[in-house]
Amino acid sequence: MRRVAPLGNEAQRSGFRPIDRKRRWWRPRYTPSVIKLENVRKRYRGADVDVLRGVDLEVAAGEFVSIVGRSGSGKTTLLNLIGGLDTAHEGRVVVDGETIESLNDHEAASFRNRRVGFVFQAYHLLDHLSCGENVALAALFARGPARRDGSWVRDRVAEVLGSVGLPGAERRSPTTLSGGERQRVAVARALFFEPAILLCDEPTGNLDSQTGRAIVDLLGEVHRKQRMVIVAATHDEAVSEAGDRAVLLVDGRLIDGPREAA
Ligand SMILES: Nc1ncnc2c1ncn2[C@@H]1O[C@H](COP(=O)(O)OP(=O)(O)OP(=O)(O)O)[C@@H](O)[C@H]1O
Ligand SMILES: [Mg+2]
Repeated sequence: MRRVAPLGNEAQRSGFRPIDRKRRWWRPRYTPSVIKLENVRKRYRGADVDVLRGVDLEVAAGEFVSIVGRSGSGKTTLLNLIGGLDTAHEGRVVVDGETIESLNDHEAASFRNRRVGFVFQAYHLLDHLSCGENVALAALFARGPARRDGSWVRDRVAEVLGSVGLPGAERRSPTTLSGGERQRVAVARALFFEPAILLCDEPTGNLDSQTGRAIVDLLGEVHRKQRMVIVAATHDEAVSEAGDRAVLLVDGRLIDGPREAA
């Protein structure tokens, strides 16, 4: 008698299908994209040419994708569109189930705060705040328990600072830290709410190669442990090699990038 595989009907209804009946191994028929850009065009006000001229990009759950391309090719522009910091003038940007252009200001702010983590080349820490306060900034703009529950926030700050290799740094001033340590605090801040997506814009751009390598290793470790999507714009070969794949932005379009073309 043919045995029914465990989860048979339920799995099929939810889009799963067996790929090897003998081993009863199931995998999704499709993996929904966490990021999907369709024919995205972007022109800045006052400019006479489009920076992005029909960008298509799909990033699946758990992928680490690096975007490479010459200076001025539009990498930061693209990250800003994915992170809801800016909107495209044509095309569709869907991120973690949200169509970015359909969000109102409040929804966009909440989306950026909760579901996306940003790491920038220049760290963007507030030097008059402690490291702990910098990491907890997201909680300040959040609604609900994350804002009210001080002990949860303190515990979470300690946890994320520990996870980036800076345990006990809560009270230190960012001005007393090296560039690599500052970037670690910035990564901790980005991870505060366990975002679905981590967007990194030249995360090693201000660091020497050895310190940059340590940040790449940290991003790789975060990615392995948390399986979030990471999209990193970079000139740094080490970052693009750490990712699952690299895409190349050239003439306003994305192509699957041979690494050496960067
Ligand atoms: N706010 C803006 N207003 C007008 N033009 C802009 C704006 N931001 C970027 N641009 C232009 O858009 C183009 C792409 O810029 P972008 O910063 O996205 O490039 P990039 O690939 O990130 O470059 P880099 O590697 O130097 O960081 C550039 O020509 C830039 O001058
Ligand atoms: Mg840039």
